[in-house]
Amino acid sequence: MKIAVTGKGGVGKTTIAAGLARLLAVDGYNVIAIDADPDANLASALGIDPDDAANIVPIARMTELIAERTGSTPGTMGGFFKLNPKVDDIPDDLSVKANGVKLLVLGTVETGGSGCICPESILLKALLKHVVVRSNEAVIMDMEAGIEHLGRGTSESVDAMLVVIEPGQRSIQTARQIKKLAKDLKIPRTFLVLNKVHDREEEEVLRAYLPDLPVIGIVLERESIRKADIEGRSPFDGDPDYVADIKVIKERLQTETDELSLMEQA
Ligand SMILES: Nc1ncnc2c1ncn2[C@@H]1O[C@H](COP(=O)(O)OP(=O)(O)OP(=O)(O)O)[C@@H](O)[C@H]1O
Ligand SMILES: [Mg+2]
Repeated sequence: MKIAVTGKGGVGKTTIAAGLARLLAVDGYNVIAIDADPDANLASALGIDPDDAANIVPIARMTELIAERTGSTPGTMGGFFKLNPKVDDIPDDLSVKANGVKLLVLGTVETGGSGCICPESILLKALLKHVVVRSNEAVIMDMEAGIEHLGRGTSESVDAMLVVIEPGQRSIQTARQIKKLAKDLKIPRTFLVLNKVHDREEEEVLRAYLPDLPVIGIVLERESIRKADIEGRSPFDGDPDYVADIKVIKERLQTETDELSLMEQA
């Protein structure tokens, strides 16, 4: 199962990605959680101690590794470098392990404009391609709305993309843009997650704005989730109701991805 979680800033991507990763780990899957958000904070949502989380070095900042694997020093442009760097050992060797989840923090590439082909982005793209296309682990990616890390040849292999929205027009607008992007990137399925929902009425209003995106789950607005975040804890460890909401999403995703792989085999 390879799932990308996207949506506007602050809607709850990290909260939902962390819950899915933790639940899949409880189920016995080998889980890789990818923090692809420039403002990385998946670690504490997974239950990693905030002090340890602050010490995680993102892959994009591992200068020696990047130089060794690509044959070119980060920060430089042009010259020759390997377009297919070795990455298959990175998930095991350079992830941070917590609660049965292997966390890979990607970090940002200073592109200074679009379309940069620099050693850092080559390595990150190759790494994502490896975990999404070749590895047989469950992969949950916490992404910014832009999802541009998902290069050609990788996005097609993502089983589903979750677009998180919250009550508010801005997150709905972003969801519409992401939906288009997902189509361009040939991601086979896109689902909505309604987060921070107060009541049934709010749920219906949200659904009505995006009628052509199926809703895969609803996570209610809960004080416990906010509190866990403030205290640098995972909501997974303290709130069974939140876990129950995420479980519905996980189970539906399992059904959907099973169907997808049956279709592929046929
Ligand atoms: N269902 C919920 N109920 C209450 N608070 C929530 C809920 N979901 C998320 N939050 C809170 O909203 C804030 C944003 O959540 P989160 O960090 O998961 O969003 P994000 O989309 O990953 O944000 P960013 O774009 O900054 O990475 C956090 O303080 C989080 O604890
Ligand atoms: Mg986040």
